[in-house]
Amino acid sequence: MAKKAKSKEKVCVVGLGFIGLPLAVSLANSGAEVVGYDLRREIVDRVNKGQSHVFEPGLEETLRKVLKNGNFRATQLASEMQKYKFVIITVGTPTDSNGYPILDQVESAAKTIGENLRKGQVVILKSTVPPLTTEEFVAPLLEKASGLKLGADFGIAFVPERTIEGQAMRELKTLTKVIGASDQKTAKEVEKLFKSLGGTIVKVSSPRIAELIKLMDNTYRDTNIALANEFAKAANVLGLDVIEAIQAANKDYERNKILIPGAGVGGSCLTKDPLILAHVSEKAGESLPLIRVARKVNNEMPEKIFNLVRSVLKRNKREIRNSKIAILGLTFKRDTNDLRETPAKVIYDLLNREGAQIVLYDRFAFPEDVEKLFKTKKVENLEEACKNADCLVIATDHSEFRELKLKRIKELMRTPCIIDGRHMINPNFALDLGFDFEGIGRPKEYFERK
Ligand SMILES: NC(=O)c1ccc[n+]([C@@H]2O[C@H](COP(=O)([O-])OP(=O)(O)OC[C@H]3O[C@@H](n4cnc5c(N)ncnc54)[C@H](O)[C@@H]3O)[C@@H](O)[C@H]2O)c1
Repeated sequence: MAKKAKSKEKVCVVGLGFIGLPLAVSLANSGAEVVGYDLRREIVDRVNKGQSHVFEPGLEETLRKVLKNGNFRATQLASEMQKYKFVIITVGTPTDSNGYPILDQVESAAKTIGENLRKGQVVILKSTVPPLTTEEFVAPLLEKASGLKLGADFGIAFVPERTIEGQAMRELKTLTKVIGASDQKTAKEVEKLFKSLGGTIVKVSSPRIAELIKLMDNTYRDTNIALANEFAKAANVLGLDVIEAIQAANKDYERNKILIPGAGVGGSCLTKDPLILAHVSEKAGESLPLIRVARKVNNEMPEKIFNLVRSVLKRNKREIRNSKIAILGLTFKRDTNDLRETPAKVIYDLLNREGAQIVLYDRFAFPEDVEKLFKTKKVENLEEACKNADCLVIATDHSEFRELKLKRIKELMRTPCIIDGRHMINPNFALDLGFDFEGIGRPKEYFERK
């Protein structure tokens, strides 16, 4: 007897940004029939041509594959979502200056979904939000716009997005997924959908617990980065190498998982999610000072880089004014094109204010995005950036900076100084070649003494 063909899961992903597009394409690649809905026409057109506006290794190839096999397409037509069992919300949730999330995009998405909601559908929120948003903000909007009843007619769930940019396609298949649904039946259906991607499933008792977990994930990371940055500050004033200390402290000692310090924390998540948690807790009567201090520590790191540039140049009888400084790496994260909240911009602004002549280099950031944010163009190759420079500042840990040809770079530079904000260079090697050098938590004096 012929085997009955497995029916495809039907999914609509609302918001085709950094999170939505890799998710939609991965679900389609795992066999689901997926439509991606976005308000922005340029995104829909681009995606339907097989071009990704998000740099994720493996994304564009997989996008082309699922467009070709018919499992995926993008649309601007909201009524299409009526035909899909699952509707996943992946719109943006920026914060205001106090750290409180602006839920306009979630609100407008929920209204549109509500207007198109049909009995039996499941709405899954993936955007990062304060606890209770799924149950007390999204569900009522859906009920009001649809006239349907949560539980009797449709289900809801919160499934936090835990991938990191640059690894999304791999991590979507492997990471543990947390599911908090409105009822058991919905939880089972959502579990089946996400199981098709791969990775372990952890079901929690409610959407609100899953929402808290997402905020805890990012707060944990941000606070631990701040701790590593404080260790670096201590190492700096004590004249010691923090990297040697961290690597040795972590080795074969499970209780330690000390992170690596750096030039600052950027991106749209770590810079806002801890503040959301602090804000909602404060509103409910409990202040969270550690979280706020951690944010402050991380925000101050670009200024540390600026101070290192100033002191290294001073040692070399130069001032920032009229020095040519090349910033290597502009995005907030390694090997991605995302410039949101990037520490490189703060470093740039501080140097610019002092009258430096700044050259920008990043092979991942899109030229138009660089020009929009920095109001200046990036140069296209590394040698051009280094030519006649007085100082190189490594602001992002793009893989290519691990392989810098320092000998050649030294020949190109006017004053061979390097500030390594991401631990990409072996200080001994740079100093042996005749560079002046400073790193975060890696003072030159320590390496000279050795
Ligand atoms: N970027 C990350 O690495 C990351 C990681 C984990 C969680 N998150 C969370 O995921 C969410 C999405 O983040 P992102 O970085 O993908 O945002 P993004 O800004 O890149 O993408 C959001 C997309 O939603 C679209 N959109 C907005 N309102 C819409 C509507 N009403 N209907 C249809 N489309 C709409 C926008 O046009 C845009 O394309 C945020 O809540 C963020 O905090 C992001």
